[in-house]
Amino acid sequence: MPDIRPTGAALGAEIRGIDLSQPLDDATFRTIEDALHEHEVIFFRGQKLTPEQHIAFSRRFGELELHLRKDCCKPGYPEIFVVSNVIENGKPIGTQDAGLFWHSDLAYMAVPSRGSLFYAHEVPHDDSGKPLGDTLFASMTAAWTALPEEIKRKVADRRAVTSYAKGYYRDRKSGPRPPLTEAQKARTPDVEHPVMRTHPYTKKPCLFVNEGYTSHIPGLPRDESDRILETLFEHASRPEFVYRHQWQAGDFLIWDNASTQHRAVFDYALPQRRRMERTTLTGTAPF
Ligand code: SIN
Repeated sequence: MPDIRPTGAALGAEIRGIDLSQPLDDATFRTIEDALHEHEVIFFRGQKLTPEQHIAFSRRFGELELHLRKDCCKPGYPEIFVVSNVIENGKPIGTQDAGLFWHSDLAYMAVPSRGSLFYAHEVPHDDSGKPLGDTLFASMTAAWTALPEEIKRKVADRRAVTSYAKGYYRDRKSGPRPPLTEAQKARTPDVEHPVMRTHPYTKKPCLFVNEGYTSHIPGLPRDESDRILETLFEHASRPEFVYRHQWQAGDFLIWDNASTQHRAVFDYALPQRRRMERTTLTGTAPF
């Protein structure tokens, strides 16, 4: 049976004793899935996976998304979204600035992602050997639970608009992104989601607004909506809700997009290389 070791933070657990390149029996897989729901972020160190094995393990959870930024997908593998600062033949091999702002994946779609499976191929280090390019994860169940009652009452039955364009165009470190194509725009109209969503598996309430993509709360004057959202964004990333993952090459980490948000730490630059590959699970409409 897998050995599950919570990080001691509000979320996150390491699972030991599993080789994800090997077929897993149903009982072991169920233990992993339950651990994901309970700990919201789980990770396995020292994995050696081919792209086919990464995809095959991901498919145990269900259907996979094909990212709308096709220019950032691994050649020959439309299911794998590449997050990297590496340039090959004069071109970035993936998205260079994913996770600049707190967000959950595909929160801007009517049906956001259930979870993401992130495999660390290359991790940057400083001169002393300390890993760089950590990722921060925040528990949205912990954040919702800790919200003052007065704010909960104000927003519990509200919906908020998420906008892909807001997140896509805002100040980008690596310079401007290519303008969205008509096809990308057609796939990403603004959508509304509940400010508090019920987790589809655990049924726990989760705060579901994020600074990356949430633009406003309809039905409120814009200045009040801005004020409330600022309060919620600031609250969501309080240190007591956060686990900071320091990567090692070979880490395979899964986060739950209903109960967490994440943000990347950009404290490295070429020639320090960072190369990560992500599959993205199809989710269900928030309620
Ligand atoms: C992401 O936001 O999907 C990427 C996070 C990271 O690169 O650490």
